[in-house]
Amino acid sequence: MSDIRFEDKVVIVTGAGGGIGRAHALLFAKHGAKVVVNDLGGSTQGEGANSEAALKVVEEIKAAGGTAIANPDSVVDGDKIVQCAMDNFGRVDVVVNNAGILRDKSFAKMTDTDWDLVYKVHVEGAYKVTHAAWNQMKEQNFGRIIFTSSTSGIYGNFGQANYGMAKLGLYGLTRTLAIEGRKNNIFVNAIAPTGGTRMTEGLFPPGAFEKLKPELVSPLVVYLCSEHCQETGSLFEVGGGWMGKVRWERSLGIGFNPDEGFTPEDVQANFEQLCSFENAVHPKDNIEALKELMQNIQKFS
Ligand code: NAI
Repeated sequence: MSDIRFEDKVVIVTGAGGGIGRAHALLFAKHGAKVVVNDLGGSTQGEGANSEAALKVVEEIKAAGGTAIANPDSVVDGDKIVQCAMDNFGRVDVVVNNAGILRDKSFAKMTDTDWDLVYKVHVEGAYKVTHAAWNQMKEQNFGRIIFTSSTSGIYGNFGQANYGMAKLGLYGLTRTLAIEGRKNNIFVNAIAPTGGTRMTEGLFPPGAFEKLKPELVSPLVVYLCSEHCQETGSLFEVGGGWMGKVRWERSLGIGFNPDEGFTPEDVQANFEQLCSFENAVHPKDNIEALKELMQNIQKFS
């Protein structure tokens, strides 16, 4: 085991004016990073803007002897945030995409604005910041990227169709960027955090909110972004001092003769077996995912 240090490294944390992002920024700074503390400073629903939020966190970091700069841009203008890192610190090594809003409503009541705003901040915002930093990371042959997913994306949650779509979309982005970044030492992971923040006030049973301190999420993020960590393309659930890794599981499935064809009734008759997780597989990539399908073709040729 070695010390995890970030001297010479520049870290962007989006939405770091409060909640979980603030905790990430403080911990990265404590470990020697130069931190760009980005925050638009709006409401949980994505309304308004206020540069104070980011400034306050920068003051905290500086008071503790760290180095940081505040940035008030929206993640939708991700190139400006990366430019701020370049102008002030000359490089970008780590991007933690954390900024987020909620526009919870049942699907029946959801408006186009609710759908679009959530997509814009979570997906387009994460894309814009990451894309603006990507070529820098390729050139310097080092990069670490975190996307912030959610259990609402992985498992679904009533009233969060927009948010769930965005959050699982970020895992799809994680999987492909991990493949594209690997040869340039750019590692990309996703977290699905749980923390007591303004976003989750009133959601947890009494006593749990205080225990779910946002700073309990950050050690995993800081480790994943360190030089020592070779993990990439993974998704972790984390909160309250607990953390675990998530993976896909798929049934072994059933195979019909592709030349003879088969009916919906054949599917019905075999549905239980199709859905059985006995001997389930855990494909790590497209090739592994297609293995059983290809074997089925070969079996009948
Ligand atoms: P929070 O509301 O305390 O922090 C989010 C921050 O993002 C705010 O400071 C806000 O001003 C900033 N922000 C919003 N839109 C922005 C934009 N366009 N550009 C820049 N900054 C913007 O909420 P929390 O809980 O700290 O959330 C952090 C991340 O974790 C979010 O992505 C959230 O969806 C995710 N998350 C949180 C969970 C929890 O239990 N707190 C559960 C699952 C996911």
